[in-house]
Amino acid sequence: GYLPVPNVQELAAVSKDVSARYIRPERELEQVAAGEFGQIPVIDMSKLQVGDDELAKLHSACKEWGFFQVINHGVAEQVITKMAEDVQHFFSLSLEEKMEYAQLSTGIEGYGQAFVFSEKQTLDWGDMLYINATPVHERKMRFWPRNPSSFRATLDQYAAELEKAARSLLISMSRNLEVEPEKLLNLFNDGEQSLRMNYYPPCEQASKVTGVAPHADGTGLTLLTRLNQAQGLQVRKEGKWVPIDPLPGAFIVNIGDILEIITNGEYKSIEHRALVNDRNERLSIASFHDPNMDVMIEPMSDLLVKDQKKQAPNYKSISHRDYKKISRNMKLDGKDGGF
Ligand code: SIN
Ligand code: FE2
Repeated sequence: GYLPVPNVQELAAVSKDVSARYIRPERELEQVAAGEFGQIPVIDMSKLQVGDDELAKLHSACKEWGFFQVINHGVAEQVITKMAEDVQHFFSLSLEEKMEYAQLSTGIEGYGQAFVFSEKQTLDWGDMLYINATPVHERKMRFWPRNPSSFRATLDQYAAELEKAARSLLISMSRNLEVEPEKLLNLFNDGEQSLRMNYYPPCEQASKVTGVAPHADGTGLTLLTRLNQAQGLQVRKEGKWVPIDPLPGAFIVNIGDILEIITNGEYKSIEHRALVNDRNERLSIASFHDPNMDVMIEPMSDLLVKDQKKQAPNYKSISHRDYKKISRNMKLDGKDGGF
């Protein structure tokens, strides 16, 4: 099982002293690159159908950065606003009310914190609500808050809209990769989608802690929304940390480990981290899009033939179920947050 972790929102409310369990060693807190790389690419999704320029931009974003922002993504503003309101409302409830949806010691779903496996592991300065949205028939409603009263419907709608946006990106990616769109999309049919809603209270020692420690996502695709003005997400580029400046209404998209494997390494799953703020709380919502549980995680066969020559796969084949088990255990060493 997993070790219990304190509730950070409560800690921040009762004491200004940050416990040593949250303070990272200096060497893990390298400074950010001073503007030398510029911003991650911005992709206008409404232009992906009309010409090749935007497609080319997307292709290079997936190869060179593994991260990009999307605008004109087709998700209505009120869907995002409503989600933001309900998530904010939920985290503002009393601890007792939130604990009605608490994680169990056996799984990540519910209200709680990122898992730790050792007393020595540095803790992240944040709480979260984690739910699996699909497959729909496997939803565990005990983790879906009824307060605010609209929350369940809001989560359902938000998940569905983000799934559409993710699939639309996958179609554009298949055109770029020159594989049949159906082949890539089929892997994600009846796939797994989870939502991780993060709440990071302000921290007196903000520069010495992380909200989410450096990790690469063990997912297919991740679509992230940031809910208030506070900055904090940073992505690795040539060994340095590049801060992301989120555009209002945009989603930040990143390639996860599974998509890196499927594309035989052509697209990159890049390490990132989230920092916290000494004055303002930070909220974010990550939507994780994974293939169907029954598929093999392996480089797509179409991609293993280039210029009519057979290429070696750079990754071993593994069932999605085994992959899940392994990516969970990798977190044992504390280096890979996985999600
Ligand atoms: C965030 O920016 O708050 C989330 C970062 C992550 O989950 O990787
Ligand atoms: Fe992440």
